[in-house]
Amino acid sequence: MLRIAVLASGNGSNLGAIIDAIKNKSLENVSIDLVLSNNKTAYALERARNNNIKAVALSPKDFSTRDDFYEELFSVLKDNSPDLIVLAGFLVSLPEFIIKYFKNRIINIHPSLIPSFCGKGFYGINVHKKALERGVKITGATVHFVDEGIDTGKIIIQKAVDVLEDDTPESLQKRVLKEAEWIILPKAIAYFVKDGHRE
Ligand code: GRF
Repeated sequence: MLRIAVLASGNGSNLGAIIDAIKNKSLENVSIDLVLSNNKTAYALERARNNNIKAVALSPKDFSTRDDFYEELFSVLKDNSPDLIVLAGFLVSLPEFIIKYFKNRIINIHPSLIPSFCGKGFYGINVHKKALERGVKITGATVHFVDEGIDTGKIIIQKAVDVLEDDTPESLQKRVLKEAEWIILPKAIAYFVKDGHRE
């Protein structure tokens, strides 16, 4: 059984896709042992509770320093000893010591075809705004390993999505989620079930 921890800051629709894939058995031998959010009101936490998954809120605001927050985050993660940490819309960048400790065991989903529209400042709706501004005809999503850089880790899986003539950032965001992210994230996790981990 591959035991995973999912870190999310918002709606958690990608978490929902993993939960659904486990329920409908397209993703087997995976258990979500922890959902953690930096945002107490994240719907991702609600989704976890609704599915009897341990849900932990850890807000940087409740700590006097950023380092204290990171230490607590590290300790919660270590206590749960996940085989794989999945960043699914987690808006906190992880410090180097956590990335090093869980080397090759942290993956992230990004809503573009890396290396396009990624790196500093490219998150959320902004990614889709930039893609439309540039006038690309194809975009998509990428699951990649997390290393010390921003969106620089080794690519695991990608899926392309057509950009339509009348797309808005919001319509494109929805289609990228539905046609790419919700499909490739459970698939990427399945690779780890098969191989233990991929390097
Ligand atoms: C997704 O677009 C993901 O790629 C990005 O943040 C968004 C999170 O969406 N990193 P959700 O919270 O999973 O619905």
